[in-house]
Amino acid sequence: MLGCGQMTQDELKALVAREALKQVVEDAVVGVGSGSTVNQFIDALASIKGRIEGAVAASEASAERLRKHGIRVFDLNSVNELPVYIDGADEITEHLHMVKGGGGALTREKIVAAVARKFVCICDASKLVGVLGKFPLPVEVIPMARSHVGRELRKLGAHPELRENYRTDNGNLIIDCHGLTIVDPPRLEADLNNIAGVVCNGIFARRAADVLLLGAPTGVTTRLKSG
Ligand code: 5RP
Repeated sequence: MLGCGQMTQDELKALVAREALKQVVEDAVVGVGSGSTVNQFIDALASIKGRIEGAVAASEASAERLRKHGIRVFDLNSVNELPVYIDGADEITEHLHMVKGGGGALTREKIVAAVARKFVCICDASKLVGVLGKFPLPVEVIPMARSHVGRELRKLGAHPELRENYRTDNGNLIIDCHGLTIVDPPRLEADLNNIAGVVCNGIFARRAADVLLLGAPTGVTTRLKSG
């Protein structure tokens, strides 16, 4: 093992993913997000699969990875309660507001997060920012509304770019919004959702994370949502 100071970003993701196992509730279904950090979490989860009932996945890719490890995947509609949801983020603030959806799974992630009692975000330290917006904000859009939504996004100050050759698991498009400085994340989250044709946007502020596990070369730090 390398010394802490020499850890790569992937090693930091693995470190934080292993730490997240402590958040998993035994004999219950765990909510699982998507992305490379979550992939590491799924691989770690396999080591305790006998102690959980199974998982609900926020993407087809995560569901497939869980099944390959022999972890039972439940439909969200068949689950009465979800004590914990574990997911990554593209950006996160001290208030545990996030930008998510770099992998395009934002809508299902937001749905599973809404059901979960506790949202645990797992990130390497590069994701912690003062203000959200440097990472292009993904917006999931119904295909026939693409041009209309693009015009409305420009009115809000964004430079919208259609994600090329991409469809979400729900069959929709993603428009990535560049050039935003998101000073009031809950407000912009609501404003974007009010545009006709927008299915969901990648700001997770109205349902922020409850716990952040942040992997840094000095180890994993835990931050809790204040208030
Ligand atoms: C996917 C997501 C991911 O959580 C986010 O993109 C972070 O991914 P990674 O762990 O690969 O950096 O929101 O829709």
